[in-house]
Amino acid sequence: MQCNQTAAWQSLAQLRVRQASDWDIRQSFASDSERFDHFSQQAPHVFADLSKNAWDGEVERRLMALARECRLEQWRSALFAGDPINATEHRAAMHWLLRMPADGGALAAGGEGLQAGLQQDLQLVHHTLDAMLALAEQVRADAFITDVVNIGIGGSHLGPEVAVNALEDWVTPGKRFHFVSNVDGHELGHVLDRVDPQHTLFIIASKSFTTAETMLNARSAREWFVAQLQAVTPAVQAEALARHFVALTTNVVAAAEFGIRTSLPFWDWVGGRYSLWSAIGLPVAIAVGAERFREMLAGAHAMDAHFVQTPLERNLPVRLALLDVWYRNFMGYGSRCMAAYSHGLRRLPAYLQQLEMESNGKGVDREGQLLGVQTSAVVWGEPGTNGQHAFFQMLHQGQDVVPVEFIALRDGGKHLGAHHRSLVINAVAQAQALLMGRYDGRPEQFCPGNRPSSFLLLERLDPAAFGALVALYEHRVFCSGVIWGINSFDQWGVELGKLLAQDLQARMARNDWTGVDASTAALLHRLLPEEVVGASA
Ligand code: F6P
Repeated sequence: MQCNQTAAWQSLAQLRVRQASDWDIRQSFASDSERFDHFSQQAPHVFADLSKNAWDGEVERRLMALARECRLEQWRSALFAGDPINATEHRAAMHWLLRMPADGGALAAGGEGLQAGLQQDLQLVHHTLDAMLALAEQVRADAFITDVVNIGIGGSHLGPEVAVNALEDWVTPGKRFHFVSNVDGHELGHVLDRVDPQHTLFIIASKSFTTAETMLNARSAREWFVAQLQAVTPAVQAEALARHFVALTTNVVAAAEFGIRTSLPFWDWVGGRYSLWSAIGLPVAIAVGAERFREMLAGAHAMDAHFVQTPLERNLPVRLALLDVWYRNFMGYGSRCMAAYSHGLRRLPAYLQQLEMESNGKGVDREGQLLGVQTSAVVWGEPGTNGQHAFFQMLHQGQDVVPVEFIALRDGGKHLGAHHRSLVINAVAQAQALLMGRYDGRPEQFCPGNRPSSFLLLERLDPAAFGALVALYEHRVFCSGVIWGINSFDQWGVELGKLLAQDLQARMARNDWTGVDASTAALLHRLLPEEVVGASA
């Protein structure tokens, strides 16, 4: 049964029809003095104020009923039991195991013992984690290595990049971090222009070790590296490659064939976009050190425990996911704006785009039936205050309502306290402006207000809080995926483009464009050199 066939869905739809036009969040504040208390809560490392949203206790109660009718609690148990819930790929989704302490941590303390079969996986996780952190410490101590270049894309890029940026107050000076993901040669080329091969560690991060962009970048980096060594014997080249190239992958055989001797493995039950906690986190561990990396894992684990142990009504990932469903399916909002008032979180929107849209941008349910409801919203954004001077105009006066998610830090860290106070005040003022609006008789200044926002507050952007924040988003995405009845852990939609790119690449080699549609052929004719395209295009 799909979510829109449940009784709870029908009751939400009816409620929505009844409240349609006269719903006003400002009124709700006026008539309910406990609104803030009810809709705000503390979760591990994250305080959330959800009171400036277009919902009330009745809506929330019915959303909770929807969650229960869609068997959210049972799916959560299946996730944490290591069941193969990624059915199309016959895999479990056990990113949570990557941050579980060896003794089971808070989950074991709460009575949620690890399934017998998973004990071995946990041992393997800790074995690899120890090896990864030892390597990270070795690189950190090696003053000779000044530059670390991570070559990877999607989940093998965005998590480490957002984390290294977010934790920059904890990054030990003396090393520079570069992230190369795009197949556009400018990205790699500019990095190679700036680094010295003798002082550079290349990390080839790819779960599959087959992703076309990463493999081309890795080959080009290897070619450049070998060329820089100049006329040395193959044995010396191999030795140098072994010292300066490391692979993070589930496909250690392919990495060895590439000439890499040091590979840190992970497992097919770690989805690419959920892999920050695995060996894929090596750049983060090099940047902040083993102890801080463990703190990041601990923060995420604390959020796992919150998600597993807290009743749905006070469960932050669940509440956020239900709000997402309410907005997407009942209010008709097609996007959500992420406004992190933190320079450290400047890449969070890109990270969340993959996490949410690759996980939940789906059109069929777990049984392969077409869905009768909308799924993932578009997630987008820029850090505050920059966004205020760009697209906030539309958020305040545009014809579309876009829920905004603010993130702010109480303690801004080591830089310039006056700036931090200004940053925080701006974040709160924007949320207030969205809610209150303005009408002073001049139509051009009319801001309708009643525009929804959520506000997440971290004590400070330290490794534990960052880990908790990311885990919060992972579980939120899982919950909305469960309500929509989809598999949030596969990504078949990205395959078609890869296949067609391969096909066009092969056609280019054969100079054969027969049967290609007129637009595609014409574009290639304009984009590729004449001798490559040939007359048939
Ligand atoms: O194309 C999408 C995708 O498969 C993502 O899911 C993944 O994170 C990314 O490509 C990179 O894959 P890999 O780590 O195997 O190179």
